[in-house]
Amino acid sequence: MKSLMLTAVALAASTLTLTAYAQSTAAPVDPNVFVNQFEATFGKFEGYRRSGAKGICAMGEFVGSADARALSTSSAFSGNPIPVVMRFSVGGANPKVADNGKSQRNMALQFNLPGGEQWQMGNISAPVFGASSPQQFLGRLASLQPDPVTKMADPAKVKAFADANPEVLLQGKYFASQPVPASFGSLNYWGVHAFGFTNAAGAKQFGKWVFEPAGGVKGLSDDEAKAKGPSFLFDDLRERVKQGNVAFTFNLELAQPGDRIDSATVPLPEGRKKVNMGMLKVTSVSADAAGDCLTITYNPMVLPKGVEPSADPMIAARAAPYVIGLSRRLTEGAKQQ
Ligand code: HEM
Repeated sequence: MKSLMLTAVALAASTLTLTAYAQSTAAPVDPNVFVNQFEATFGKFEGYRRSGAKGICAMGEFVGSADARALSTSSAFSGNPIPVVMRFSVGGANPKVADNGKSQRNMALQFNLPGGEQWQMGNISAPVFGASSPQQFLGRLASLQPDPVTKMADPAKVKAFADANPEVLLQGKYFASQPVPASFGSLNYWGVHAFGFTNAAGAKQFGKWVFEPAGGVKGLSDDEAKAKGPSFLFDDLRERVKQGNVAFTFNLELAQPGDRIDSATVPLPEGRKKVNMGMLKVTSVSADAAGDCLTITYNPMVLPKGVEPSADPMIAARAAPYVIGLSRRLTEGAKQQ
């Protein structure tokens, strides 16, 4: 009996090892295939980003905290004001998407650090992403691709993929549970990946960040959202920033030993210690579709000294498709409104 149990445990262990092996050696997704799949699933809107198409540039200033300096040597946290090239956008590839839906909003940031160093990040208004690996993300996008005849995704394909990969539904469930955001300036924006922060003593701390609005999170009732109409977010942001009212706290949730830090679909457990890393204030918003953000692609592998990626496979997998997306939209003539 004992040996039977041991065999079962050994078999289970070898299956686990095989699964882990299969995951770690999954063929990388060709970045062109990724961008082509975005276009096939969501449509091709020439000149626009293939994701987060409808957007606006803004400028900001970040001042890091003493607590952040204790965690990372990055010059982002020196305490001196750091200029930040910002972009706010509505989720999806359609540049005409309505602002008053229960969907994703984004806040992308490029910290322009001393000595020409940069830190880029694209943050989203959900604590989780819609896939945990590049292969799973590609599969999900393929399952959502419209049929050429019906112009609709095949519900059986969508269901079969989601049944086999239930975490792809978590993000949609989160958005459905939230009100329509009242403003780009009154939303939480999560980084969703874990990153490592290294301090002057060489100690490394992994964590996940969230930018939280200084004025609190605000949503609209269904009637208010309807009354706002499909295009209010840009003017709203300009108005709030003119009045000096848009700022975010950069909070880092600290991972503890044993926490999953390799998945964008698994948040850190509730109640993890949160460190205030500094304050980001939005100082101006573009009057039109132009601005410094238009020709930037916010590549999460562009990190400063003192910050490094975790083992989350999605981080590195984003880099090449972003650059390909950038080169396609620049060739077509960059637009964002
Ligand atoms: C392998 C997975 C992913 C692929 C292939 C992918 C692909 C893309 C592409 C092609 C763009 C447009 C880039 C450009 O034209 O500059 C984009 C934008 C964006 N993505 Fe992803 N993405 C992935 C994962 C993620 C994840 C996990 C997040 C969550 C933080 C995310 C957040 C964003 C944001 C916020 C933008 C808009 C940034 C901006 O304003 O420029 N993406 N993505």
